[in-house]
Amino acid sequence: MKINNPFSSILLISFFSIFFTKSIADVMFLNVINFGAKSDNKTDSSYAFLSAWDLACNSSKSSTIYVPKGIFLVKQAYFKGKCNNNPIIFRIDGSIVAPFDYNVIGNEKNWILFQGVDGVSIVGGNLDGQGSSLWTCKSSTKNCPRGATTLGFSNSNNVSITGLTSLNSQMFHIVINGCKNVKLQGVKVYAPGESPNTDGIHVQLSSDISILNSIISTGDDCVSIGPGTSNLWIQNVACGPGHGISIGSLAKDFEEAGVQNVTVKSVMFMNTQNGVRIKTWGRPSTGFVNNVLFQHVAMIDVENPIVIDQNYCPYNKNCPGQVSGVKVSDVTYQDIHGSSATRVAMKFDCSKRNPCKGIKLEDVNLSYKNEPAAEASCSNVAGTTTGVIQPTSCL
Ligand SMILES: *[C@@H]1O[C@H](CO)[C@@H](O)[C@H](O)[C@H]1NC(C)=O
Ligand SMILES: *[C@@H]1O[C@H](CO)[C@@H](O)[C@H](O)[C@H]1NC(C)=O
Ligand SMILES: *[C@@H]1O[C@H](CO)[C@@H](O)[C@H](O)[C@H]1NC(C)=O
Ligand SMILES: *[C@@H]1O[C@H](CO)[C@@H](O)[C@H](O)[C@H]1NC(C)=O
Ligand SMILES: *[C@@H]1O[C@H](CO)[C@@H](O)[C@H](O)[C@H]1NC(C)=O
Repeated sequence: MKINNPFSSILLISFFSIFFTKSIADVMFLNVINFGAKSDNKTDSSYAFLSAWDLACNSSKSSTIYVPKGIFLVKQAYFKGKCNNNPIIFRIDGSIVAPFDYNVIGNEKNWILFQGVDGVSIVGGNLDGQGSSLWTCKSSTKNCPRGATTLGFSNSNNVSITGLTSLNSQMFHIVINGCKNVKLQGVKVYAPGESPNTDGIHVQLSSDISILNSIISTGDDCVSIGPGTSNLWIQNVACGPGHGISIGSLAKDFEEAGVQNVTVKSVMFMNTQNGVRIKTWGRPSTGFVNNVLFQHVAMIDVENPIVIDQNYCPYNKNCPGQVSGVKVSDVTYQDIHGSSATRVAMKFDCSKRNPCKGIKLEDVNLSYKNEPAAEASCSNVAGTTTGVIQPTSCL
């Protein structure tokens, strides 16, 4: 805006001061520094963060909790609701780091947890789980703690996470559990390809969840979709390294809610172990997978681009000789193209007792070593194909 007349600039100033006074009155602004947080990567700022949260949660005004630039050590923080039904925004310009010694939180489920909240947004920020010494421990034979999830949302509604970066989580990076209406956008997850169990985003027992415009490079599933997930929308996600986007593992427990209405659209996999996968233990279960669409998917040297594995039984423990009870139906693969890093580019290994039904392939073109000669493998699966299908379908 160009201002060349002093009168109009006075008008402008009075306009802005009215505007700002109003917004200050309506929004409570809480800088964690004013609650004693220190950006020295040394002082535990947990208490400061929790004090700011208590005030915001108690207030009937909407609140912004502000974390300025700098490195804040937070030993552990559980932000609990129910709050006074007001929107709370965490605006984070800095980094929040977990204790360097993995024993401090290694046996806890979560490092940072939001529980029973409604209308919380996180904007920006780096969360650094400092997981590498725990992974080293796990790679030796020592008795190591399991590791904590970096960021959890439990039993919460109307959550938004925008522009957050999660680094080197001990275990899972972000877990959405028992939630409704959660939007993750512009999220970045980074951990090395060999870091164990560092799933990027895990969703379970939740509905109306979207994951958009995000980049995930990690040592396990980029997105894992657990029992009881419905109305999940994933779009514009780049995955790699990692184990792909997986529905499962399912049938870990006998009584399990199903997974339904999942859309995975415009995603790219680069040098991942899997592309789009459905994975269930070879065990009886009440679970199911229904109404899934994988659409516009690019694969670059993916070991198992398209896979349904219903005979998952690691170490042949607790399942040999059993069949999966999970019923898989109405799964569509549409416009899937690129390269496979192994000969079998498409594998449907379904349950003997509950064959996969309604599997639809439409325009699938996968190559192996620059040849269009990749193979498909099918057992206990029924479905239809349309358009170009390479490798030749075994449906
Ligand atoms: C923060 O301190 C830890 C040691 O406690 C160190 O490993 C880490 O590199 C530091 N982070 C930054 C960004 O300086
Ligand atoms: C929040 O409200 C509760 C109950 O009204 C009160 O006990 C508590 O001290 C308040 N906490 C803060 C930080 O205001
Ligand atoms: C949160 O979502 C529920 C429906 O899931 C709605 O009833 C409620 O009003 C929403 N709350 C806010 C703060 O938007
Ligand atoms: C499926 O989920 C999408 C959001 O991912 C939602 O818009 C749509 O209404 C859902 N369809 C059904 C039948 O529930
Ligand atoms: C499959 O994709 C390759 C490029 O990866 C392309 O050369 C080939 O023409 C495509 N095949 C069909 C039938 O579209």
